[in-house]
Amino acid sequence: MENPQADNDPNVRPLTFADPLTDELLKYSLRTQLESLFKTEMTIQQRQHQLQQSFVEAITLVLADKSAKHQQLVAAFEQMYESATQSMALAELSQELLTRQYVSSSGLIMSPLNCRHTIKDVYRIQGYVRGIDLAIKQQLRQKSVVNVLYPACGPFAPLLLPLLKYYQQHGQIKAGQLKVTLLDIQAGAILSLRQLVSDLEITDYICDIVEQDATEYIPEQSIDLLILEAMQHGFTREGQLSIAKHLVHYLDLEGSLIPQQVSVRGIMVIGETEFSHQWQSAAFTHSLNVDPTAQADRIELGEIFKVNKSSLLKAQPIALDGGIKVLTANQLTIPKGIEDMPQRILAIYAHIHTYGQETVQQYDSGITHPRPDMSFYIDAQPNQIDHPYFVANSGDTVQFFYQLTGLPGFIASKL
Ligand SMILES: C[S@@+](CC[C@H](N)C(=O)[O-])C[C@H]1O[C@@H](n2cnc3c(N)ncnc32)[C@H](O)[C@@H]1O
Repeated sequence: MENPQADNDPNVRPLTFADPLTDELLKYSLRTQLESLFKTEMTIQQRQHQLQQSFVEAITLVLADKSAKHQQLVAAFEQMYESATQSMALAELSQELLTRQYVSSSGLIMSPLNCRHTIKDVYRIQGYVRGIDLAIKQQLRQKSVVNVLYPACGPFAPLLLPLLKYYQQHGQIKAGQLKVTLLDIQAGAILSLRQLVSDLEITDYICDIVEQDATEYIPEQSIDLLILEAMQHGFTREGQLSIAKHLVHYLDLEGSLIPQQVSVRGIMVIGETEFSHQWQSAAFTHSLNVDPTAQADRIELGEIFKVNKSSLLKAQPIALDGGIKVLTANQLTIPKGIEDMPQRILAIYAHIHTYGQETVQQYDSGITHPRPDMSFYIDAQPNQIDHPYFVANSGDTVQFFYQLTGLPGFIASKL
């Protein structure tokens, strides 16, 4: 029905265009209304069945011994995304809850709308899920019930919920064997999670869904598996380290952090070669598709930072003026005798070892994509005289620090 007021009232925004940010969910809502008009609406059972099957199919491919074809994986993950997005639309988040994005004291808090894409990140999910499956089975050899905490899980908790559905459908691991706590700071993510867990019919596996800042959460019981992925490329921007540093103290003595280790490495590259030429004939970016010539052209600086259970337990932040805290990372010596060093830029990437032999390697995911750092000059001078950049020479030793602020990342300093 028309709203006669809308034409005259300046406060009523006519629905003639969609905000591009929320367009996809709006489209879903319109589609649902249209389908209902034409009586082709899916029943609740049909929609839930489609969602559940898409989750099980994606995990079946991911856990298969013989790795599935890229296109097959992409199609299965796309279907999972579509179904999860439909479930999210039914949670009826307000635009405010859907799009709210801000910086907290430990890092960027992405909006549920932006987070929903992480369920399509095929090789990140593959590396994590295969590792989590191993870790859960390993824990179940020692105890009858495994406590799992998944902080900063986002609106879909994609590293775990599809696996739980797979376990349930295959009768592999029963609900009584896992006590899963999902946690996120975004109210919109929590509403979406509740809808998804209910649509997947896996409530028996879920012990709690908590809306809280993970850096302040105190678990009631010790954690057997802490699953965490709140990082962006170059190990920057999101609060992975602050969250892990806080929660690692609640891990059982025999408990595991997943990923077991993140190794952050530095390379000096020619930007064109590394980021453009290398990918010209590759079907898609992946560690298996890197170009040997481009790889050989890199100057390896080595490991800048290592994050694992033991390093986190030992971490002693240094407090600087203004209450800013930093962690001491590694020292690296810049190799000498590289003629084209002034043309090179620093790129930083994470190599993620999730569990057992399972990994997410460089270029497998956005989070392991090398990140160029344009503020790091070797054997070269920035144009401006008064500049804030780091300048050093070949042969110098560089000490890296990691800043634990709303904008986490590395700081280089010369010794
Ligand atoms: C990129 S999304 C989800 C990533 C998700 N772990 C995955 O594997 O797809 C990041 C989520 O982390 C949440 N988050 C970030 N920092 C947090 C914190 N300190 N406490 C709780 N949630 C946090 C955000 O609210 C957002 O929902």
